[in-house]
Amino acid sequence: TRPAPTSARPPRAELHLHLEGTLEPELAFTLAERNEVSLPFADPVALRAAYAFTDLQSFLDLYHATSQVLRTADDFADLTMAYLRRAAAGGVRHAELMVDLQTHVARGVPLEDVVAGVARGLADGEAELGVSGLMIAAFLRHRPATEAEELLDDLLALGAPVAGVGLASTEVGFAAAPFAPAFAKAAAHGLRRTAHAAEEGPAWHVTEALDVLGAERVDHGIRALEDADVVARLVRDQVPLTVCPVSNVRLRAVPSLAQHPLPAMLAAGLNVSLNSDDPSYFGGYVDEVDDAVTAAFGLSRDRRADLAAASFRGSFLPPEHVARHV
Ligand code: ADE
Ligand code: ZN
Repeated sequence: TRPAPTSARPPRAELHLHLEGTLEPELAFTLAERNEVSLPFADPVALRAAYAFTDLQSFLDLYHATSQVLRTADDFADLTMAYLRRAAAGGVRHAELMVDLQTHVARGVPLEDVVAGVARGLADGEAELGVSGLMIAAFLRHRPATEAEELLDDLLALGAPVAGVGLASTEVGFAAAPFAPAFAKAAAHGLRRTAHAAEEGPAWHVTEALDVLGAERVDHGIRALEDADVVARLVRDQVPLTVCPVSNVRLRAVPSLAQHPLPAMLAAGLNVSLNSDDPSYFGGYVDEVDDAVTAAFGLSRDRRADLAAASFRGSFLPPEHVARHV
């Protein structure tokens, strides 16, 4: 007999997802033991209890610390597959995974091991779950831009199966402009481009992402609403914005879900999709994000279907693949 559908949700793509942000405390402890790495917490309960964040940086500090348990290609494959299983159960049919490659390489993990592990997880996810996946190399704002360029060179030399590049990590205090050469080189090699902007930083960071980095998509972009000209441009060009309302509340970029700008963004005609960002840390996979905003704003079934369709249209899938989903 066929298994019952896992949910009645519309199929969707997840576009804003950090692989390291899917590491559940239980798996973190399993990997810590497997790799003989110690975590500064007694057990998964104690680790989860530390998930009380005051801003982006307070989260990033814990996220980078916990990421240290990831050491081998198997670890990255297991983590990728664990995420894809959970995502598939919530209706995800396509996922674009940002990976913090610089963090792992800086710790001495060979780049090819990280890439091979994630690629194996994505291939297994496609074969076992029917979920397609793409890998995005997220450059890290808090690390030198020259390191990002070297990373890109190494990825290109490896012929790594990377669909695109992104820009993540600490937004305020670390400039995006130095990453322009890395983005330009990525574009010249046919890689797609996304960048975090206006999560904690001002609206002009969106303009910078588009004009200086050549981003095709913007991650978060919630503070774009503070500048009517920026909004007008994003609406005109229908730039995909990968919005993560639960993340924004947990990192206190907005005070509460009820005060999240999602309804204003939709009313303005912005091209929004719903995403989880770092679901293990924020307590919400994308289906739970969908539930939370539906409850908070009374989104109609049609509106939810529109948001799900927007997720495929905003993806880096080729147009003929998008057409299969919407
Ligand atoms: N890396 C992981 N999650 C992030 C976020 N919400 N903003 C910036 N960088 C991140
Ligand atoms: Zn993010």
